[in-house]
Amino acid sequence: MKPTTPPKTYRVKSFGCQMNVYDGERMAELLAAQGIAPAPEGEDADLVVLNTCHIREKAAEKVYSDIGRISKAGAASGKQPLIAVAGCVAQAEGEEIMARAPAVSIVVGPQAYHRLPEMLDRAVAGESATDTDMPPIAKFDALPDRRKIGPSAFLTIQEGCDKFCTYCVVPYTRGAEISRPFRDLVTEARKLVDAGAREITLLGQNVSAWSGENEKGHRIGLAGLVRTLAETDGLARIRYTTSHPADMDEDIIAAHGDTPKLMPYLHLPVQSGSDRVLKAMNRSHTAESYLELLERFRAARPDLALSGDFIVGFPGETDAEFEETLRLVDTVGYAQAFSFKYSPRPGTPAATMDDQIAKEVMDERLQRLQAALNRDQFAFNKASVGRTCQVLVERRGKHPGQWLGKSPWLQSVWFEGDYAIGDLVDVELVEAGPNSLAGRILQRVAA
Ligand code: SAH
Ligand code: SF4
Ligand code: F3S
Repeated sequence: MKPTTPPKTYRVKSFGCQMNVYDGERMAELLAAQGIAPAPEGEDADLVVLNTCHIREKAAEKVYSDIGRISKAGAASGKQPLIAVAGCVAQAEGEEIMARAPAVSIVVGPQAYHRLPEMLDRAVAGESATDTDMPPIAKFDALPDRRKIGPSAFLTIQEGCDKFCTYCVVPYTRGAEISRPFRDLVTEARKLVDAGAREITLLGQNVSAWSGENEKGHRIGLAGLVRTLAETDGLARIRYTTSHPADMDEDIIAAHGDTPKLMPYLHLPVQSGSDRVLKAMNRSHTAESYLELLERFRAARPDLALSGDFIVGFPGETDAEFEETLRLVDTVGYAQAFSFKYSPRPGTPAATMDDQIAKEVMDERLQRLQAALNRDQFAFNKASVGRTCQVLVERRGKHPGQWLGKSPWLQSVWFEGDYAIGDLVDVELVEAGPNSLAGRILQRVAA
């Protein structure tokens, strides 16, 4: 039986990209504003929101196993929670979710979650509630203010994607590219800093496609926005992710050289090192144009840490084409990177292409690629030893007196001392591991 009493407690579980994490935080704020409390750690919630990801098959299937597990636990305890499916699976599959998983009461897409409170009312009244409309921007205006947050905050500035890479569901689940208005972003950044943020990461599926009008009515791009936000008192660091090589302009390259608050880190997915594969993926760059672009960024900011995304086993990818990807990796020397096996997604052009690659071939390629990327990440960390830098203190470590924070190059740094979350401390990096570094404190920097 689906519950028919209004929920008193909630839990939001977000999967997928950072934009989903941002949406999950906003949904939590929305539910809290309705008087629903977060469920205490370890206790069952009356309302579970599964904020889902559709990017690869494994991610999309996860929601069904989660629903099964929640229903089973509910049957055992005699108390079924209300289940809402949000995010990109909700957008892609809509009402089909309820047909496949009858325990679900609410299906709400990523552009419609500001309507969650009224959907809850309908669900409690015994109706099924589905909303996968895509009214651009409307949700942001309808959301409550930001609540107390950690030192590193996300701010979605742009949503959607017009690039239509042939493997990717995002243009279908998140809709067309839209930019949030400049003024709203300046206001939200101020509120985030007032709520405790020292670092803001600007988010978008194509964050570099952001454009807007500044207070003087001039059209500006991402670099102009970064420069304006850098003037926010109390804000120490700005990052942005994810960018597409096609949208990177001279201005954002220059901003990396002339805006100290913009951190020396660039996540710029390439996907493959083979021009034939890149063309079949409908990526607008070649391996060479990508490398040239990176050189221009490195000229503006020589210590820039580079990150990227890769797909192995795109339909038709030959051994020789995969080797080209390995060569590109060797050339770039990434500080960090994400790599995935190609997953055919319903409705995308690549899913019906000839020459789908066998799983074993993909497994082997992924292993080789990840070995190369891990090697380079470790090398980058080792090369950082001896550097001094500021670390933003994000949380306590496992041992008393131990703290964990992030370097400007987004490395995790451990150190000991008497600090508070949100402090910026000067450290010397003294020891490197594959995934983190140890730091020795030099001094705390005044806020
Ligand atoms: N807008 C961003 C992020 C897109 S999703 C960008 O363009 O970079 C994040 C990553 O997931 C992509 O960069 C890609 O590497 C991977 N990805 C997307 N679709 C995929 C698929 N069908 N199979 C495997 N990996 C995929
Ligand atoms: Fe997907 Fe390509 Fe758009 Fe990135 S740029 S979200 S990979 S379609
Ligand atoms: Fe996943 Fe949607 Fe993000 S498909 S990666 S949650 S945009």
